[in-house]
Amino acid sequence: MRKTFLVTGGTGFIGNCFCKLLLAERPDDKVINVDVCTYAANPSTIREELKNPNYKFYKTDIRNREEIYKIFEEEKPDTVVNFAAESHVDRSILDPEAFLTTNILGTAVLMDACRKYGIDRYHQVSTDEVYGDLPLDRPDLFFHEDTPLHTSSPYSTSKASADLLVLAYYRTYGLPVTISRCSNNYGPYQFPEKLIPLMISKASHDESLPVYGEGLNVRDWLYVKDHCYGILAVIEKGRIGEVYNLGGHNERNNLYIVKRILTELGKPESLITHVADRHGHDQRYAIDPAKAMAELGWQPTTTFEDGIKRTIEWYRENQWWLDECNASNREWLKKNYAERK
Ligand code: NAD
Ligand code: TYD
Repeated sequence: MRKTFLVTGGTGFIGNCFCKLLLAERPDDKVINVDVCTYAANPSTIREELKNPNYKFYKTDIRNREEIYKIFEEEKPDTVVNFAAESHVDRSILDPEAFLTTNILGTAVLMDACRKYGIDRYHQVSTDEVYGDLPLDRPDLFFHEDTPLHTSSPYSTSKASADLLVLAYYRTYGLPVTISRCSNNYGPYQFPEKLIPLMISKASHDESLPVYGEGLNVRDWLYVKDHCYGILAVIEKGRIGEVYNLGGHNERNNLYIVKRILTELGKPESLITHVADRHGHDQRYAIDPAKAMAELGWQPTTTFEDGIKRTIEWYRENQWWLDECNASNREWLKKNYAERK
């Protein structure tokens, strides 16, 4: 039977990749993208999808209860996948409010709509940042699904709050929910405020690359398409009320990533500039994805070497897309980096 997926935040980095994957892999299904288009959404990202008759776009805020209910009435989704979020840690440190309203209250509005109109599945796209961080000198430690939530930034705290609310709607109202918690993503169409596209963009223009502190913080990198296959696997095969960690054991420190980008672009390491560290900077993230692998048969297929090459190539070929994003991001770049000198 034809299914209708309602995807929120589908003009952003991961949500758009998920819509592309659904349109390609589930060609009989309908995909509804609900996205208010904040600074983080470049409208050009969805130009191909808009031509697809199975795709529809609503420029709507998930915090707007009335509008969200109207969309549910009109589209009658079976599956709701919530990507919509304020997603940048540094912005949450400078101005937390939108993180609380979108990431927590927006999630509540969506789940209330699910209860009112009925759905088969509500899936919450979450992050490994809800577990806080791990020490650099304990490479034996990983985040498991039952690792206590222990957040550091307003961003991660808002995501952890949303996760707890999702589990509360499962227990209290029996809403059929699942949650996936993924490590850092990289790939095409990521807004150039995040480490990898920011550094590619800066290096391409021979600008200095601002590395926070010593650059020894570790992130666990996953190619965005692998993440999206993982989410689909959780929705189609995961158990209701469960949390699944998604990651590919790809830990690298920030200096390694920045140097890798410079090598690939043929630029000198002298472009690296160490700047003031992020407040409360998480040391290390590392996901144990054993549960998703065993229960869902999911595993990442893109090696870091392939993924990073493909990613850098994509940004080189789509400099126009980066330029469009940078045009709407100048104020932020000035504000964030001026304070770090
Ligand atoms: P992004 O910032 O690229 O995209 C977020 C999208 O949500 C944007 O298109 C934005 O316009 C939209 N949005 C924001 N507020 C909204 C609102 N009130 N109503 C409707 N739309 C709104 O983020 P991303 O990197 O694609 O992340 C997507 C999700 O995945 C987020 O929930 C994030 O917490 C989670 N996540 C991200 C990563 C990562 O490495 N990027 C890793 C794990 C989990
Ligand atoms: P980011 O892409 O913001 O993701 P997150 O903080 O959610 O993991 O940052 C990834 C890492 O890169 C993090 O340790 C902070 C660091 N970083 C820099 O060193 N310089 C920068 O300009 C940015 C944006 C991040």
